[in-house]
Amino acid sequence: MLQLDHIDAGYGPVQVLGSVSLAAQEGSITVIVGPNGAGKSTILKVITGLVRPTGGHVVFQERDITALPAHDRPALGIASCPEGRRLFPLLTAETNLRLGAYTPRGRNAADATMEYVYRLFPRLRERAGVKAGRLSGGEQQMVGIGRALMAKPSILILDEPSLGLAPKLVSEIFAKIQELRKGGLTVLMVEQNAYAALRIADFGYVMQNGQVVRSGPTKDLLDLEALRRDYFATG
Ligand SMILES: Nc1ncnc2c1ncn2[C@@H]1O[C@H](COP(=O)(O)OP(=O)(O)O)[C@@H](O)[C@H]1O
Ligand SMILES: [Mg+2]
Repeated sequence: MLQLDHIDAGYGPVQVLGSVSLAAQEGSITVIVGPNGAGKSTILKVITGLVRPTGGHVVFQERDITALPAHDRPALGIASCPEGRRLFPLLTAETNLRLGAYTPRGRNAADATMEYVYRLFPRLRERAGVKAGRLSGGEQQMVGIGRALMAKPSILILDEPSLGLAPKLVSEIFAKIQELRKGGLTVLMVEQNAYAALRIADFGYVMQNGQVVRSGPTKDLLDLEALRRDYFATG
């Protein structure tokens, strides 16, 4: 399990997160929703170690990793696909995937995991030799997720996997995320596309202005009127 306990964080003098507490339970999909600028990506950066909190604790599998450098976290089983995916556009889809297998656990299982990724996303097998920069948005998202899987994580962290995708592709990607959860993976994702994300997740957090304003099993959060209020409130 991954847990954030009263996290304060920001960028230099600018505080973005105020006492954020949340948890991602093993084997479930947890989603953080909220309007643009609410601090969702900052939470993920605290988890991956790119932003050092000024208060609170990050605990992963009962270990306090608050001060652990970012480059030591993937070996523990934390893998992320960042906002905008950040692929190497001039390298092929397959090379981008291979680059994800840089943890010891990933390296040892690279061929088997590659096969798993290609079964999950058959389209990528067809596009394996194509430069990532020439792939469609949906294919790039598949490579981004696949690359994170190549590290053999126990928790997969996704920042806005639906961003810029047509609705049909969003459903497809979300269905794959559910498939991963069925395989036992823990997923923590951030989405502006609140309604669609809440429908596939088990537990949700609604953020506004750097704070969690509501949380609960997703079936309790799928109240459209309340969501609308959360999204359009000025705080
Ligand atoms: N690198 C940065 N430097 C300074 N401020 C930032 C930086 N990244 C994000 N912010 C600010 O932090 C706030 C939250 O951003 P972010 O976590 O990206 O929100 P979200 O992912 O919910 O859209 C915003 O006000 C944003 O302008
Ligand atoms: Mg963001």
